[in-house]
Amino acid sequence: MHPEFVGILLNNNTYRRISSGRIGTESLANYEEAAAMYGLVPCFFTIHHISLDTGMVTGYIPIPSGYRRVYIPIPRAIHMRAIYHNRRELKRIEDLIKQGIFVFNGRTRYGKDTIHHMLEQDSGLSNALPHTVKATPVSIRSMLSQHGDLVLKPCSGSIGIGIMRLKRSTGHSQLTYSRSSPSAKGWRTVTLAEGKLHPLIYQRIKRAPFLAQERIPLAEYRGRPFDIRVTVQRGGSGSWEIAGMFAKTSPPQTFVSNIAQGGSAYQVPDILTRCMPNAPVGETLERIAEFSLHIARILSLFIPYAADFGLDIGITEDGRLYFIECNGCDQRYGFLEAGMGEAWKNSYRNPMAFVRYLYDNDTWPPH
Ligand SMILES: Nc1ncnc2c1ncn2[C@@H]1O[C@H](COP(=O)(O)OP(=O)(O)OP(=O)(O)O)[C@@H](O)[C@H]1O
Ligand SMILES: [Mg+2]
Repeated sequence: MHPEFVGILLNNNTYRRISSGRIGTESLANYEEAAAMYGLVPCFFTIHHISLDTGMVTGYIPIPSGYRRVYIPIPRAIHMRAIYHNRRELKRIEDLIKQGIFVFNGRTRYGKDTIHHMLEQDSGLSNALPHTVKATPVSIRSMLSQHGDLVLKPCSGSIGIGIMRLKRSTGHSQLTYSRSSPSAKGWRTVTLAEGKLHPLIYQRIKRAPFLAQERIPLAEYRGRPFDIRVTVQRGGSGSWEIAGMFAKTSPPQTFVSNIAQGGSAYQVPDILTRCMPNAPVGETLERIAEFSLHIARILSLFIPYAADFGLDIGITEDGRLYFIECNGCDQRYGFLEAGMGEAWKNSYRNPMAFVRYLYDNDTWPPH
């Protein structure tokens, strides 16, 4: 009998490194181990290795001594771990879906504005969404006078690049920004006269669509604001489950907690015990989990074939929860940085358990 394959669609960089064994932030061994638990064999390839005409794909499968190149029929389920911006590549994904292949997480690139609008449809979330509008010089001034503290972020931003904070103080305002590639070092804060917007703001919001968003007063750990990354995935039952969560703090001088910007990862119970000593930790964890599952369920009404979300959840000192952001193809190594090996493995296991569900049921889950 042939082994049952599952496709793992990697980006070009990761794919190129397969034979060298050094593949950066993804763990191929985790895919292999997880797939084996569900009687599956992962086949690693990129979008360019798939031929829709022949229905075949060239890829690598694990063998005891490393990896072997194979030429096999396109697996019925493909776990997408690459991000595509290019129209041609996105079209190929659509074509695969049309041919009945379960390309899960196939449609992940939604702008932050679009995601926000999806969540606005749920009245239960209205208190959990930071006030957000399209950024224009007029809307930024109006939002600043309403909220006093704003985050200006690109609609399709990435790892904290281009994001700025604009904060009002008496008689002036302060802009925090970075011009360098992601790092904790490039950040600076400049003071602006009241009512003035920095030229950089004009420049950036002209070049790409930006949002002006109320900055949530995030709880702080040792003076550093933190938010919580919750990985929510479809698992073996087809429904949404929490793979794990970790807290990430912003480095000094910044307000962003992205690991790529120098943010640090911690275990959530540790942080909550220290920062919110009066709130029962178990209950708060439960609330964060329920909140995240709810968001995943709402989003999946709008995003077909979603099976994996990395949610950034903000929490205030008094325990209010806010939705900050949703990533469709989130990095998993934050779990390792937080010392959470089990959650890290889980984040690879759930998708393989979900493939088992798809193969056994031959249909996308109803909920
Ligand atoms: N409204 C907000 N209030 C408080 N902090 C915020 C807010 N928006 C963003 N931040 C901080 O900035 C960080 C980065 O912002 P966000 O997650 O929205 O974009 P991004 O990470 O740059 O985008 P992507 O995840 O698509 O790469 C957040 O993790 C959070 O620490
Ligand atoms: Mg983010």
